Amino acid sequence: MSNITFTMIKPDAVQDGHIGAILNQITEAGFKIKAMKLTQLTVDDAKKFYEIHAERPFYMELVEFMSSGPIVAAILEKDNAVEDFRKLIGATNPAEAAEGTIRQKFARSIGENAVHGSDSDENAKIEADFHFAGREVF
Ligand code: GTP
Ligand code: MG
Repeated sequence: MSNITFTMIKPDAVQDGHIGAILNQITEAGFKIKAMKLTQLTVDDAKKFYEIHAERPFYMELVEFMSSGPIVAAILEKDNAVEDFRKLIGATNPAEAAEGTIRQKFARSIGENAVHGSDSDENAKIEADFHFAGREVF
């Protein structure tokens, strides 16, 4: 699974009409879509997904935002997927994200930052399994 990462197009970017542009940038950068769906997280789903941040001051804000509207969830494949995808999306805070990165172009703020990208091969697998059944992955 080391060539796999997991992403979500977050509620801000879905609402702002950026699904097409973001998917285009992802595939142009050489990522292959292995699984994808439009879905919405419940509050409990978002709490579980971001459990690692439970002690952070912004946790409930993050959970409320991530469950506030539809998202696109996807599994992506490419050599060095986790690291290359995080480079493509840019820094967490769009004000600090490099020119041309997805967050620099499409994010609203540090909290509403357009996309998620897994931070390790191990978490990519956990996150992919959280969102997709085996028959949904190609
Ligand atoms: P993800 O790809 O979404 O995991 O982002 P990241 O790895 O760049 O950042 P991190 O895992 O540290 O934080 C997870 C998410 O919490 C971020 O993407 C933001 O949506 C949110 N977040 C992080 N820092 C802040 C903050 O200071 N304020 C608020 N409101 N949200 C934050
Ligand atoms: Mg993270």
